[in-house]
Amino acid sequence: MSSAGRPTLPGRDYHAPEIFELEREKIFFGEWFYAGRADRAPEPGDFLTVDVVGESILVVRGKDGELRGFYNVCRHRGSRICDPETRGHAKGAIKCPYHAWTYSYEGDLIGTPLVDPDEVDRSALSLWPVHVDVWQGFVFVHLGEPKADVRTSFERQNDRPLQYEPWRMDELRTVEQTVTELAANWKILIENYNECLHCPTVHPELVAVAPTFRKGLVFEEGRDDWGVSMEGAGYTATGTTTIPVMPGLTEQQANAMHGASIFPNMFIDLTGTVVIATRMQPRGPERTTIITDYLFRPEAIADPGFDPRETIEFSELVAHQDYVVCERVQQGVRSRAFTHGVYAEKDELPYAFNQTYLAARDRP
Ligand code: FES
Ligand SMILES: [Fe+2]
Repeated sequence: MSSAGRPTLPGRDYHAPEIFELEREKIFFGEWFYAGRADRAPEPGDFLTVDVVGESILVVRGKDGELRGFYNVCRHRGSRICDPETRGHAKGAIKCPYHAWTYSYEGDLIGTPLVDPDEVDRSALSLWPVHVDVWQGFVFVHLGEPKADVRTSFERQNDRPLQYEPWRMDELRTVEQTVTELAANWKILIENYNECLHCPTVHPELVAVAPTFRKGLVFEEGRDDWGVSMEGAGYTATGTTTIPVMPGLTEQQANAMHGASIFPNMFIDLTGTVVIATRMQPRGPERTTIITDYLFRPEAIADPGFDPRETIEFSELVAHQDYVVCERVQQGVRSRAFTHGVYAEKDELPYAFNQTYLAARDRP
């Protein structure tokens, strides 16, 4: 089916505050939101906080080893409990910094200094819970009522993330995290991620190691695993690397680049030696924070000769080339002249993303 000549989203969808408000309610509070890596909170009492488009969520590891999620809001007078967008360890209990009410790692109110237990009904004042699930070491939170767990919901994702389970991403460790503030709407990033018509112009270094991209294609002819063959297993300017290939991958998987855009706020890029996990944190209609984790095998990291710099530098080079054009698009689509743009035939994935987006945003 040809998608040539179809319109993009209208310009206002990329900058209007009322559209962003609708997206918060229907999409970011209505889907599993990627919140970070589970190994950021490995021990009971360890926590991380994540901003889900203006709602601060606290994710805490319980005594039973399970992660639980709560609104980061005290039940007494509403103070923010933990600092936003951080991680740490709650010693013994989670303590509110205002009047020192304390909550167990499971969210139960257990301490109210100077307030007798019969003054307030502690049992009715647990932290407000949110759903948490973990897939392959990635933590997701859901502020509504999920219809299915993360893994089941991924069966419906356009980009088939479940096919990347052989990478055993739960075993990988973060070596570096980069954070970039972008003056662009989150959808522009997803649309850019999903097409390669821009690759020859924007990514000369990338097309040198992955010739499929030179043709403007995101799929390689003759491959049904959606991989794009690389010069080697490394995600570097030369395609080579001294980092060993991950166990459990076929040769075809190892010598290729794979990527998934997981609706609504995650990208995973995979080669035979590295997994790059990217979290988008929409801050406003025209602002997005991009947080990227570089994940490697623990035994590769333990090798004294382990050097991920070439991989990280190459990836950041390509990513920043994308960020520059995404910000230029943001500037253009705000123009009153831009009613909408037009999709070419090779833009079928951005078009498909727009359909998924509209179905989610405009659902009753
Ligand atoms: S607002 Fe948290 S203890 Fe008072
Ligand atoms: Fe790109």
